[in-house]
Amino acid sequence: MVTRISVKHARQAAAIGQQVLVQGWIRTRRDSKGGFSFLEVNDGSSLANLQVVADGNLANYETEVKHLTAGSSVAIEGEIKPSGGKGQATELLAAKITVLGLADPESYPLQKKQHSLEKLREWAHLRPRTNTFGAVARVRNSVCRSIHDFFQEEDFLYVHTPIITASDCEGAGAMFRVTTLELDKLPRDGSPIRHELDFFGKPAYLTVSGQLEGEIFACSLGKIYTFGPTFRAENSNTSRHLAEFWMVEPEVAFYDLVDNMDLAERFLKRLFRDALDRCGDDMAFFNEHYDKTTIETLEKIVACEFHRLPYTEAVEILQKSGEKFEFPVEWGIDLQSEHERYLTEKHFRGPVILHDYPRTLKPFYMRVNDDGRTVRAMDVLVPKVGEIIGGSQREERLDVLTQRMAEQGLRSEDYWWYCDLRRYGTVPHAGFGLGLERAVQFITGMANIRDVIPFPRTPGSAEF
Ligand code: 4AD
Ligand code: MG
Repeated sequence: MVTRISVKHARQAAAIGQQVLVQGWIRTRRDSKGGFSFLEVNDGSSLANLQVVADGNLANYETEVKHLTAGSSVAIEGEIKPSGGKGQATELLAAKITVLGLADPESYPLQKKQHSLEKLREWAHLRPRTNTFGAVARVRNSVCRSIHDFFQEEDFLYVHTPIITASDCEGAGAMFRVTTLELDKLPRDGSPIRHELDFFGKPAYLTVSGQLEGEIFACSLGKIYTFGPTFRAENSNTSRHLAEFWMVEPEVAFYDLVDNMDLAERFLKRLFRDALDRCGDDMAFFNEHYDKTTIETLEKIVACEFHRLPYTEAVEILQKSGEKFEFPVEWGIDLQSEHERYLTEKHFRGPVILHDYPRTLKPFYMRVNDDGRTVRAMDVLVPKVGEIIGGSQREERLDVLTQRMAEQGLRSEDYWWYCDLRRYGTVPHAGFGLGLERAVQFITGMANIRDVIPFPRTPGSAEF
């Protein structure tokens, strides 16, 4: 009996002696003087390839096998044998090789061994076939699995919040509009746009965060998380910003900010631990080729406690640092990435949770402290990537909330349902959002966020 098997499983000693079918893509072909060839086959199931021995006696050896080049697709039947080769326990002795599709070596872009990451971004349809992007895809998958494992094990309810929304959670105004109005037929005489004719009867947008809807479910069902794509139309062309990214947002009734920080720390450690445990080969690859410190950094973080300090103390540390910053530091400024990096990379040398930020810097929903100047916000900062999590304890007092909305130019009538949560059985609650790509970036050590999402959307770029 022939068993269909992945490269990952075919590489394991337990597979020796089995008659198998392996399907994948050729990475390399090496012809031996003895009249046979070695094929390296990859199917995405692992970083490592399966070595296939193609004997000269195969029916199509001269006509097809000897013409196989990188990128060609094949189906191979044969027996798994112990291998004498370095770095592999097994190899596949081919009895039959079916060539499914050739890849013309003249035009196949991945024929050449090394391309820059920038160049590979132009080939988003082919880059998953490289070691780097295969490894990123597997680590990203592992992180998503850990996210669900962690919250499910802690009895959080997975809630699907909407992608299309009429409310602006972060109040930043950087939202993509969703409309069926014909843009080239809008009135040009200055008369107002008739939103009542639009699909939803009013302006609608792609969500920047599922938090507000998440709060609805937390304030009914206790512990929830939402996990999905979010969209921001900020025109920031940095190595840490995407216009479309994934965010996981837990929200918990009866939690205060300290509970929230504890949850965030436990959660991140779990993601890092799992990546190390489940993606050993891929992590070793990143450590070797992209960031020589990534495994050591993760191991250290998993074992130590995150530093926690109020924004006000962080400002003092930065002011006393003697460091020359491009943006001078004073109480009330939004910390820039140079400041965050100083704190995480030089001062504390590890993750830092900053909390209690000035109220002027943060959205309306964060709980105002008794000092009146700060809110119960928290940002988790990590070396190199900077902010990876943003969250807060939420304002549960209706009067303070409506005052904060007014302060930020929002009409509380537009958020009547959000206010209702405070009107009927209000409870203290808290939550946060982790940017999935920032997490994958940090874990892998990849320098640019565009290389940890399959199809990056950034200003001026949405091919594929
Ligand atoms: O700090 P942010 O804006 O917080 C919120 O949206 C809250 N509503 C979350 C909550 O409390 N439920 O975003 C949360 C995280 C950031 O820390 C960052 O990791 C990521 O989302 N993020 C981005 N990632 C990639 N590209 C962007 N443009 C991002 N903006 C935020
Ligand atoms: Mg933030």
